[in-house]
Amino acid sequence: MPEIDYRPIAEDEYPAFAKALVDGFSVDVPDDDFTDLIRTIHPPERTLGAFEGDEIVGTFAGLAVDLTIPGGTIPMEGTTAVTVFPTHRRMGLMNEMMRLHLENAVDNGYAIAGLWASESSIYGRYGYGIATYADTITMVARDIRFRDGIDIDRVRRISVEDALAVLPPVFDKVLPQTSGMYSRSTEWWELEVLHDTDWRKRGRTSLRVVVHETPDGPDGYAIYRHEAGDSDDGHSGKTVHIDEVTTASERAHASLWSYLTNIDGSPNVRLWNSRIDDPLAMKLVEPRRIKVDSQFDALWILILDVTTALEARRYEQDGSVRFAVTNAFRPDVEGSYELAVTGGVASCARIEAETDISVDLDVLGALYLGGGDALGYLAAGRLRADARAAAHMHQLFRTAQQPWCNQVF
Ligand SMILES: CC(C)(COP(=O)(O)OP(=O)(O)OC[C@H]1O[C@@H](n2cnc3c(N)ncnc32)[C@H](O)[C@@H]1OP(=O)(O)O)[C@@H](O)C(=O)NCCC(=O)NCCS
Repeated sequence: MPEIDYRPIAEDEYPAFAKALVDGFSVDVPDDDFTDLIRTIHPPERTLGAFEGDEIVGTFAGLAVDLTIPGGTIPMEGTTAVTVFPTHRRMGLMNEMMRLHLENAVDNGYAIAGLWASESSIYGRYGYGIATYADTITMVARDIRFRDGIDIDRVRRISVEDALAVLPPVFDKVLPQTSGMYSRSTEWWELEVLHDTDWRKRGRTSLRVVVHETPDGPDGYAIYRHEAGDSDDGHSGKTVHIDEVTTASERAHASLWSYLTNIDGSPNVRLWNSRIDDPLAMKLVEPRRIKVDSQFDALWILILDVTTALEARRYEQDGSVRFAVTNAFRPDVEGSYELAVTGGVASCARIEAETDISVDLDVLGALYLGGGDALGYLAAGRLRADARAAAHMHQLFRTAQQPWCNQVF
């Protein structure tokens, strides 16, 4: 077993950290921009390196964001940059970095942590549960016809430079309406969302940005790239690869989708991360023309402090439940709780009394944003209760709108 030291990196270790990080994902460091991105987004105190001597053989980082939850927001510790060198795998390095990372998050007052998982088998053990799902959808542009009565306006193309000023206010309108979305700093807009260097393009064009405008200002935008390709008959068959369609009104939504499915020479349209309850298909003459290529787990939530986290969100029904939480990796969180909701506002406390529900911590994380299916977890044996108690918990946590996380981190 190698001797490993775990510590935050120093300022001059960013190039080595960035290299170790991409190496851990089996790719090369794209360019100096990438190191700058890591330096800007993860200040030293939010990084963790696993060092064997001077060499970084494992990486971890935190990302401070505000997450929209039902009826409000909560600070979230984003868990990211998780890698261990292939030569050091399965020796417990990730376990130790996760322990230190979560200890740090608790010390800094975070009640939840969240991540996007490269593999869905890794994070349940630590108590992270799948809180949002998303769809990858594709369509053939000529098949997309909107039903009568759907209002569609022209949209305006803007430059990426202008987008840095125009898009954030639109995003900030949508953010508080959508559980699972997280706040974006100016640096995040510049270095992630609208970053247009060669390594971001992956063989596609530079970014295109269009906005839908109203007399009160823009209320929707789309960001996309084209990818070259041939159609079945050998003619040009480009694909519109959409990064984001973010809309604060149905009119903006229909107008932007109409635009995206009417670009001459680009017959194929693909959005990698659609809301699972997106109304696009319902606006079409032929709903089946939208193909769901895959549905995937998006944001995973780990509840670090059950009472604080559950009291921070609002509920669409009143009622109370008593439940016991289990997770071997987070013994401090284990125990019994009572959640009581009146007028949508919750109080939550630890209790000594018997509970009629027992739940794994990852399942509680999955229910937290209102999208999780307690009855499905009951069927899977991961929530233990009688059917009535499980149905009550299901209704209490569930929200009418599905949560959605629109960007990976
Ligand atoms: C995923 C990764 C970080 C695991 O690191 P590691 O140091 O080998 O993990 P550990 O040895 O600490 O293992 C911790 C536990 O997770 C399990 N585990 C680790 N990787 C796993 C995987 N890919 N799938 C399922 N289980 C996994 C281990 O079996 C171990 O389980 P145990 O505690 O019950 O014995 C490493 O394989 C890696 O760098 N992968 C490529 C990059 C990547 O996918 N990162 C995740 C980004 S979200």
